Amino acid sequence: MEAQALEKDIRMNNHLTGPTLVFADHSHVDFVVRNLLSNAIKYSFQGGKIEIRKSDTGKAGLTAFSISDNGIGIDNDTAEKLFRLDGQSRLGTSGEKGTALGLIICKSFIEANGGNIRVESVKQKGTTFIFSLRQDRDDSDHTVSESGGLP
Ligand SMILES: Nc1ncnc2c1ncn2[C@@H]1O[C@H](COP(=O)(O)OP(=O)(O)OP(=O)(O)O)[C@@H](O)[C@H]1O
Ligand SMILES: [Mg+2]
Repeated sequence: MEAQALEKDIRMNNHLTGPTLVFADHSHVDFVVRNLLSNAIKYSFQGGKIEIRKSDTGKAGLTAFSISDNGIGIDNDTAEKLFRLDGQSRLGTSGEKGTALGLIICKSFIEANGGNIRVESVKQKGTTFIFSLRQDRDDSDHTVSESGGLP
């Protein structure tokens, strides 16, 4: 992933200052961040910029993060299908291939940890994915077992 970012001359700016504590499965969060970052690189132009920030959730008890790029963007039709199995994978700006499963798994993982994930995008301008995670353990509901993990 780093090699690809270097090749495209993409600058990644991490605006998270200091540690932020969330309650979530480490390997799930790792998968989500990796897929969102690799997508951002894949769909960015040469010399692009990626920004990682904290974001607003509008919901108590959740902390949100955003990963933004100024790449090729996503049209409305595609955006609607992104988290469903009927989407198609698009080649990256350097012809990179995928399976279109990454975001489906991301959504499943984020929801299994009690959070949400959504996308905001403008064609030819860029894309932002925002996902939230719990600030604390919540013993009152058992989302992980109820959602059943992967689709
Ligand atoms: N940052 C982005 N900019 C533009 N399009 C994006 C971005 N992230 C995702 N997409 C669109 O969403 C689709 C699905 O992304 P997803 O991560 O699920 O699959 P993929 O990257 O194609 O393959 P993989 O399964 O290897 O992750 C992509 O094929 C692309 O069309
Ligand atoms: Mg992907």
